[in-house]
Amino acid sequence: MKKLVVANFKMNLTSSEIKKYVMALAPKFKSDKVDLSLALPFVSLESGKFLLSGSDISLTAQNISEEECGSLTGEVSGAMLKDIGVQRVIVGHSERRTRFKETGKSINKKIKIALKNRLQVVLCVGESLIDKNSMKSQAAITAQVDEALKGLYENELENIIIAYEPVWAIGTGKTASVKEIEEGIKVVRKAIETAFSKKAATEVRVLYGGSITAKNISQVVGVAGLDGVLVGGSCLDVATLIYIISVCEAGAKK
Ligand code: 13P
Repeated sequence: MKKLVVANFKMNLTSSEIKKYVMALAPKFKSDKVDLSLALPFVSLESGKFLLSGSDISLTAQNISEEECGSLTGEVSGAMLKDIGVQRVIVGHSERRTRFKETGKSINKKIKIALKNRLQVVLCVGESLIDKNSMKSQAAITAQVDEALKGLYENELENIIIAYEPVWAIGTGKTASVKEIEEGIKVVRKAIETAFSKKAATEVRVLYGGSITAKNISQVVGVAGLDGVLVGGSCLDVATLIYIISVCEAGAKK
């Protein structure tokens, strides 16, 4: 299976800057080993779609409303995202859990609305530093997976990708070690097995995210059972993202 690389721009780069970025990246990307998706800010998704037409690069949104439509100033619906050609959406990112107080219940609603609108989901889960230091990582990850996927049918998991993103590794320069990533993936798969089945646990795609750089990508991509990466800060430089993709391609050959 191809490795998935999702580049999460977060709230960085204006539409003009993204235009330049995409024009530099798109002609250089063609791969039968890696799927690439750009998680652009909302305001750049539609122009991004236009600029990416004819390329193999897909688009991911960084958020979705938990409601279908209506008087919800500032929100963006699943139907709106689907309509402009977005393929998937990130849900449950730790920045949204902590800064915007998103709860497990809201994340669950967002996932259901995304699936209803035929959008794939990149569900982010991961322990905080406090969880880690108090040996509660496993409980924290398991609870996040359980809450997020409550009420879903097993066949819907084919449209769910889980990103293991330890909160202490996001934007800190502290990448998790190979052992820690392996352990995190194992906990995610165990939670899926308990909630669904062994088959679902084996088949669900799991990514890692947290301070991935050109320096550490070769170590990360070698982690057993890893289906791809979610890259934050390092994706903002086109050359770095291209390098990260090339290492993932080499890793996918194994
Ligand atoms: P950084 O790569 O900047 O640590 O961000 C990771 C992340 O949050 C991706 O969603």
